[in-house]
Amino acid sequence: MHIRAAYLQGRHARCLTDGMDGHKYMFASESDAAEFDRLENQSLIHDWLAIGRASAFGLGVGSTCLEVGPGAGSMARWMAGVVGPSGRVDAIDISERFFPALQLPHINKRLGDIRSIELEESIYDIIHARLVLLHLPQADRVPVLERLRRSLKPGGSIIVCDPGHDQRLSLEPNEAEILWDRLLKGIVQVFIEQADYSLGTRLPELLVEGGYVETGGVYYMTLPTPGSVVQDYMIPIIDLVRRLTAGRTDLPFSNEDLDQLSGRIAECRVAVPLGFAWGRRGPAEGQDDLAAPAE
Ligand SMILES: C[S@@+](CC[C@H](N)C(=O)[O-])C[C@H]1O[C@@H](n2cnc3c(N)ncnc32)[C@H](O)[C@@H]1O
Repeated sequence: MHIRAAYLQGRHARCLTDGMDGHKYMFASESDAAEFDRLENQSLIHDWLAIGRASAFGLGVGSTCLEVGPGAGSMARWMAGVVGPSGRVDAIDISERFFPALQLPHINKRLGDIRSIELEESIYDIIHARLVLLHLPQADRVPVLERLRRSLKPGGSIIVCDPGHDQRLSLEPNEAEILWDRLLKGIVQVFIEQADYSLGTRLPELLVEGGYVETGGVYYMTLPTPGSVVQDYMIPIIDLVRRLTAGRTDLPFSNEDLDQLSGRIAECRVAVPLGFAWGRRGPAEGQDDLAAPAE
C-alpha cells in the first residue's frame, strides 16, 4: 500500500515526547510498522463516524480544518481531499514519524505539542481530535479544549473521540467476553498514569467545561464480525498489553487469561468501546473572546 510505504521514509523522525514537562505519549517507543498498522486499523474502524459528523457540520470545499494528532493520517487525508485548493488542513502531532504519509498539497504539517503550540485565533471551521485527549495529563485536557475553542471560528465545530473501556460490554457476557471485559478494565487501571481509557463517556462534560455549546455524543461498540478488521485489531491489542505490562503483578488478568483470550477472540460479540462527542464554539462568542481582558 503506497501510504504505508511512504511513512517508511520517515525514519529518524523527531518526536517531542520528552518535551516541556517530560510527558510521554505511551506508544512513542512502539516500532513504526506496528504503530502504523495499529493506527490504520483504528482508522478503518472509526473514520466513517468522524467523516459523517464532519460532513454534517458542513466540512466542504474551502473549509479550514485542524487535525490534532493525525497519527497515520487517514482523517487529514480525507479532509484534504474534500477542502481542495481553496481550503486548508493543519495537522499537528507531537511526533513527525508518520508525516510522510501526509504528503498532500493542502496539508500543513506541524510538529508540536497541542498543549503549547501556537494556534491562530478564530481560524478553523472544524477541528477533529481522535484518541489524543486521553493521552494528555488530566489537568491539561480542559485547557487544551479551551484553546482549541478559541482557534475555531464562531460557530465552528469540534469532534472528539476517546475509549470508554469502563462500561459493561454486554448484559449477559460469555466467557470470552468476560475475559475481554477484564482486559479492557485492566487497561484503564494499568495505564491510568499515562492515558485515561475511560475518558470516552466523559467527553461531553469536558466539552461543556471547555466552553462549547450544542454538545452531543454517542457511545458505541464495534462488532467483530468474522475476519473483520475489528478482529485484526483485537489480537495485537492483547499482544501490546502483554508487552507493556510484562513483570507487573497487580493486574486483573494473568498471562494465561491473555493466552486464552487470543484463542477465543471470535467468541466476543462486541469490542473496542468508544465515546464520540462534538460541540460548537458559540456563534456570538468571537469578539468577546478576542478582546483584551476587562480591567
Ligand atoms: C492513538 S494516536 C491517534 C491517531 C489518530 N488520531 C487516529 O485516530 O488514528 C495519538 C496521536 O496523537 C499524537 N499525540 C500524542 N500526544 C500529543 C500531544 N500532546 N500533542 C500533539 N499530538 C499528540 C501521537 O503522536 C499520535 O499520533
